[in-house]
Amino acid sequence: MAYTVPELTDFSPVALDGAVRELLSALAQESAAVHSENNWKAFRDRWMARKNGILTQLNDLWLKAAPGANKRDVGQRVNEVKRKVEETVAATLARTQEAKASLEFAGTLGPDGQNISAIYPPGSSFVQRRLAAERLDITLPGIRRPLGAEHPVIKMMNEMIGVFRNLGYSVEEGPEIETDFYNFEALNFPPNHPARDTQDTLFIAGQESKPLRDRLLLRTHTSPVQIRTMQKTKPPVRVVCPGKVHRNDALDATHSPIFHQIEGLAVDTNITFCDLKGTLDHAMKAMFGSNVKTRFYPSFFPFTEPSADVQISCIFCDGKGTRDGAPCRNCKASGWIELLGCGMVDPNVYGFVDYDATKVSGFAFGMGVERIAILKYGVDDIQLFFQGDVRFLEQFG
Ligand code: PHE
Repeated sequence: MAYTVPELTDFSPVALDGAVRELLSALAQESAAVHSENNWKAFRDRWMARKNGILTQLNDLWLKAAPGANKRDVGQRVNEVKRKVEETVAATLARTQEAKASLEFAGTLGPDGQNISAIYPPGSSFVQRRLAAERLDITLPGIRRPLGAEHPVIKMMNEMIGVFRNLGYSVEEGPEIETDFYNFEALNFPPNHPARDTQDTLFIAGQESKPLRDRLLLRTHTSPVQIRTMQKTKPPVRVVCPGKVHRNDALDATHSPIFHQIEGLAVDTNITFCDLKGTLDHAMKAMFGSNVKTRFYPSFFPFTEPSADVQISCIFCDGKGTRDGAPCRNCKASGWIELLGCGMVDPNVYGFVDYDATKVSGFAFGMGVERIAILKYGVDDIQLFFQGDVRFLEQFG
């Protein structure tokens, strides 16, 4: 008699296992009885048809009927059964197809399995065609997969992170879609402050009903990760934060609306500007060679006080400003190249993260990864990093 799904009244594990066993043995028997693709279709529909297939009936007769306390148990078993049925139906089809193929192949064989061309002399065009089509040249080399190379931006980033890891820094990351609070407010950019204009970006649409601090935008720098880190860790803190940032900048050879930065933050007791200078001077020497000099030039960022831009002596003219008797184009003959922003963390920022500004001090810095890669690798157009041209990228492999 063909199997029918029983209505269950006993939902104990023992009873459920019994019912599952009975169902699976029916499944195995019916699968074994399938010998053609047409048979198989009927078999598949009987088990898997959406309307009233056996799996559908399991939902009604077992799962829906189960009392609340047993639902989990029943659900687990029904899921197992489903997987098993799907597997069996697929395997049954594969079996009938293989059987069909070997029947067809047997058609090219002679009475006791000998190849037909051995019995009938070559000339049967069917055999010739078949032999030609199945010819296999096993002496051909295999298909070699080209090896990928690390993207130059990632490579540069890892190298820079390595320099700071050696100084005891750990790595933190934060979201690329930030709130106004983390990107601006907690970094001491008050609403409507003109410093916001220097970092115009894309805002997520339709957020007018939210308070300004909760509105989402694409982060314009990695500095929000400073705030996130200080919110979740007490001092001492030493982190670098690599990541992608966005600005409303038109693209040209040195600007891209998407680029990468590495942020640094060190907060502890008695950290001074001297520590900042020593750290960055060391980092620049580690990246560009021990000959480079650094210079700290007064600047402004709302979240650091005092703030500075760091310049390194020009690596193209060794800081001389002239090269082969002509003014150096890389440093506009000044002998210096501006590389990054930094400063001592503004005490106002500690107020946003519950640090005691009378007890701790620290420094922060932020540098553009593409900018440094351009100098280090002698790349003349920032767009090359984003165009995905293999001829460019493979040079960094
Ligand atoms: N976030 C600043 C920028 O993107 C750089 C910076 C970081 C400056 C940390 C000072 C301290 O321009």
